[in-house]
Amino acid sequence: MPKTEKPSEKDNHEPKKLPIYKHKDKLVQAVKENSFLIVTGETGSGKTTQLPQYLYKAGLCRNGRIGVTQPRRVAAITVAQRVCQEMGVQLGEEVGYQVRFDDCSTKDTMIKYMTDGCMLREILADPGLSQYSIVILDEAHERSLNTDVLLGLLKKRLSKASRGHQAPLKVVVMSATLETEKLSSFYGNCPVFTIPGRTYPVKEKFCNLIGPKDKESSVYVKEVVKVTLDVHSSEAAGDILVFLTGQAEIEKACDMLFEKAETLNYRYDVHDRTVEGLLILPLYGSMPTDQQRQIFQPSPKGVRKCVVATNIAATSLTIDGIRYIVDSGFVKQLNHNSRVGLDILEVVPISKSEAQQRTGRAGRTAAGKCFRIYNKDFWDTCMPNYTIPEIQRTSLTSVILTLKCLGVHDVIRFPYLDCPEERFILTALKQLYQFDAIDRRGHVTPLGRLMVEFPLPPNLTRALLKAAALECEDIVLPVAAMLSVENIFIRPGKPEGQKEAEARHSEIAAFAGGSNDFLMLLCVFEKCRASDNPSAWCKEHWIHWRAVKSAFSVESQLRDILLRLKQRKDFPHEKFEGSKSELLRQCLCLGYFTNVARRSVGKSFCTMDGHGSSILIHPSSCLFGQELQLDWIIFHDVLVTSRVYVRTVCPIRYEWVMDLLPKLHEIDVYELSSVAREEVTDEEMVHWEKKEAAKRQAEAREDAAR
Ligand code: CDP
Ligand code: MG
Repeated sequence: MPKTEKPSEKDNHEPKKLPIYKHKDKLVQAVKENSFLIVTGETGSGKTTQLPQYLYKAGLCRNGRIGVTQPRRVAAITVAQRVCQEMGVQLGEEVGYQVRFDDCSTKDTMIKYMTDGCMLREILADPGLSQYSIVILDEAHERSLNTDVLLGLLKKRLSKASRGHQAPLKVVVMSATLETEKLSSFYGNCPVFTIPGRTYPVKEKFCNLIGPKDKESSVYVKEVVKVTLDVHSSEAAGDILVFLTGQAEIEKACDMLFEKAETLNYRYDVHDRTVEGLLILPLYGSMPTDQQRQIFQPSPKGVRKCVVATNIAATSLTIDGIRYIVDSGFVKQLNHNSRVGLDILEVVPISKSEAQQRTGRAGRTAAGKCFRIYNKDFWDTCMPNYTIPEIQRTSLTSVILTLKCLGVHDVIRFPYLDCPEERFILTALKQLYQFDAIDRRGHVTPLGRLMVEFPLPPNLTRALLKAAALECEDIVLPVAAMLSVENIFIRPGKPEGQKEAEARHSEIAAFAGGSNDFLMLLCVFEKCRASDNPSAWCKEHWIHWRAVKSAFSVESQLRDILLRLKQRKDFPHEKFEGSKSELLRQCLCLGYFTNVARRSVGKSFCTMDGHGSSILIHPSSCLFGQELQLDWIIFHDVLVTSRVYVRTVCPIRYEWVMDLLPKLHEIDVYELSSVAREEVTDEEMVHWEKKEAAKRQAEAREDAAR
């Protein structure tokens, strides 16, 4: 129970009390005087919410709007909401936001918060960014892939003066206190404006509950819950922020917090969401926005707020009143897995600098405490010093295609703040070549120009374009949409619900033919859309209605893009040969031939991309248990635990990929390195093609000899 009265946090909500306020005039002046400016300050000092307002009120966007990029969509949305509140305007008018598949802005929006991915798309559509007078790249320290690319692009763009008569674009880069010198020297030693922050000391405590070997979610979630309840029952007033890795885990932890509290004879009320003075709130990216807003509301008197969050609460969002941190030591991160040759979302230990950042969140308004559930051994042996920038650890395929479409031919010598490894760039080029998005010279093909228009991963885009060429996009659009939203299947944690949900899901699977996860998605989409009461239908079938609803909206947006592209003269048209019932699977093969596997021993499959990894079908797939009847499959995503599992699986026939598979080995990545660097002359090309042909002949001879 809280021992002392909660300190009043109300004042900190006032924009005039934020550290940035004192520097308002100097900041506006600095932006006026410089084309490039770095602004740095502790998280919570007011950079994201205040600076755009200052610039707007100072009349700096008379000739174009201010765009503020965020690596995370939730941040873009909630910050825009907050700024609207402060300015007393309607969201989507003067102040708005745009994230993938959700545009809440008009052409008159003057302050536009957007994801860095959306800003990249705007540059594609309008390379001079003629609608903008200022671009603020926020959260640069997060080093997201898209922000890193924007950093390089904006450096190039400006030097090219591609804006005609317009005043040059101003670029402001905002970052927490990391790497500002590096950023400044990247932009020709531009000035750095530091907002002095006031922070209070935070006591760090290692709880020694997990060590280097305890990486199972079930283990650390349990310990996190235990520590949180200890903090609640023994520490003075102040809110708690708990760091975990993702939605499922967070929901489980919240449930456990309730249950545990119940066994401690606490009052338990599901609707109230408070347990004996503890208000438990989850916070993760795919949460509905009205629920997210609740996080920022001060807790009622005598009640302690406990926010259980992903890493989003580390820098992107500041919740006032936090005095205690419970750190699990883990984060969910997209990493390129060279074992399987794919990007995989995996749970990994955080870096030491990340742990420091988490700790700092407890000392914003008063002295605080940080409880790390791990021990010193875990800190020393499992946690790297710094987080590696995303550009150095994920697939670059989409980004390289965007760069190529923007006319950046030399993607290796592009000005990266930190260069990705050359082999990653080459792998991306190879993939683009396999999808026919670029040719052997590294030039974008007409197909590549179509592909870049879709905010989807290349394999889905490729499948969709194939379907569209055959005039049957209606079967692939819903699938692409369903794969772009959060998981639609409800899988309850409790055994009773589990059985019921499984039974309902198998009914749908059976209806969809029982042997294709993609088709199952299509089936849910169509059944739900045809139903008189779609939300009731979802409830009955243990499907997340919210997810399906967003899939409806995504589908219509993708359809709009497609309709626009179909107007182009060069849009491909093809005739379909084969059976209609196989149409979906054949279209998918065009996109997923890079993810083909063939059954090898027992229930395991072997991938065909040259890695030859051994994989298993995940229990969540409707094909789980039918492995022995399968031969060839394609899959959408991969889950790596001690083994490699594939999810969203579809059986295929070898004939459908037979002509595509050689493409996987046709071009050597190192051959592409020359075309990645510079324009190749015709002569060099002829020479190279001859060499290639000779090589293939030699290989064929070798094969024949075997
Ligand atoms: O960008 P920086 O971390 O410097 O600070 P900020 O995000 O502008 O936050 C300034 C203040 O606004 C903090 O006290 C936040 O708690 C508050 N804020 C809020 O109440 N609701 C939001 N959606 C975003 C920020
Ligand atoms: Mg910020």
